[in-house]
Amino acid sequence: MKPTRRSETLAALGGDPVIPKGALKPWPPVGALDRKMVLASLEGGQHTYGPNCTALEKEFSDWSGLKHTLFCNSGTAALHMALVACQCGAGDEVLAPAYTWPSSATCCLHHNIIPVFVDIEWSTMNIDPDKIEAAITPRTKAIIVVHLHGLTVNMKKVLAVARRHGLKVIEDCCQAHGAAFGGRPAGTFGDVAAFSTNQNKIMCSGEGGFFSTNDPATFERGKTLWYFGENRPPDAAAGYHAYGMGWMYRSSDLVAAFARAQLTRLDANLAKIHANAARLTECLADVPHLILPTTPRGHRHNFYNYTVRFDMAAMNRADQARAFRDKLVVALRAEGVETGVWQGWPVPEMTALQAKDAYGRGCPWSCRHAAPVDYSLDQYPVARRHCDWHTGMTTPLRPPNGPRMAQLVARAFGKVMTHLDQVDQIK
Ligand SMILES: Cc1ncc(COP(=O)(O)O)c(C=O)c1O
Repeated sequence: MKPTRRSETLAALGGDPVIPKGALKPWPPVGALDRKMVLASLEGGQHTYGPNCTALEKEFSDWSGLKHTLFCNSGTAALHMALVACQCGAGDEVLAPAYTWPSSATCCLHHNIIPVFVDIEWSTMNIDPDKIEAAITPRTKAIIVVHLHGLTVNMKKVLAVARRHGLKVIEDCCQAHGAAFGGRPAGTFGDVAAFSTNQNKIMCSGEGGFFSTNDPATFERGKTLWYFGENRPPDAAAGYHAYGMGWMYRSSDLVAAFARAQLTRLDANLAKIHANAARLTECLADVPHLILPTTPRGHRHNFYNYTVRFDMAAMNRADQARAFRDKLVVALRAEGVETGVWQGWPVPEMTALQAKDAYGRGCPWSCRHAAPVDYSLDQYPVARRHCDWHTGMTTPLRPPNGPRMAQLVARAFGKVMTHLDQVDQIK
């Protein structure tokens, strides 16, 4: 047998990696403006909710096209506030995609709301708008749509169903800064939107989030949760008094200062990520057995996460898809590609959901206001296949990494996907 050259040997088996150590630059780039603004806040003396928070809310409103914004300490907090803003409560059902970040759906549990899952669409990896209607019951109050990986859901279809059934629409835009549908920005279609600014997001501030809406009454209702339930009626005296149930969802001035600095670069970063993603798609076109992400006509993808599916059927690996995918990811990582499996399970498959016990004694499913719901997994075949077949990347497409990194990533994919016999040998 002809000996394999080192450059053809997978790095996972001792060959040379395609992407040299240190070539990948971390996210986010931090510059002089970030330092200046955070230091100014530090020295400004108001480290709790302060002037940078109010300035940021105004600037984000101007950027997003959503008139009313509160800066929160996470996207999850903003989602919880969104549910309350939409008047969802004990025993109500809220629809969510079967595949997403868990808190897109577990936000319901904080308010005794029962999440009901809808399978995803294979092509977009988003909630399947054609399957929403079948999941609606007389208890359904809202739909949480998640613009996953930065690709917008078909909001025309979602809004048509919501209108027919009188449902509220919450947009989980945690990954969708700058995404659009029909030329309109994500977040401006539904009743309320939640954004995240955690470190991995395209606009980031360490941790944080925005609760945003165009409707003043919705805004006021969501706000009731934001600060200890201390929503003083106009005629009440000042004082630390809970007028209702509240959480502590505010963020701080230091974080807001960082977020303001990052916001100044958001549009430039979005353009660079888009260009890098286009280059990657071009370079991956001839790599065998890959199913590349697509952007349907009329949608704008922000490529928050560039998610690729391995065609397990074409590789005759469908019966061992998950194990083989894990080996492919090991092989790619050894080549220097920062890729991974972001979510390995459909949300309804996760322990708390299968056990129907979020915070003891079967709550909230055992709440007397709730009706039984079924989370049997055969209802989510597309989400399950996606979980076993995919890998996804964020940092390689983010500045300061450029088109050269996209080319290297594609070369590493090419090397791995043309040496499947070696992938089989990975332990
Ligand atoms: C789709 C989605 N929804 C919700 C969240 C929650 O955001 P956070 O981590 O800011 O609470 C995230 C982020 O992790 C997310 O990706």
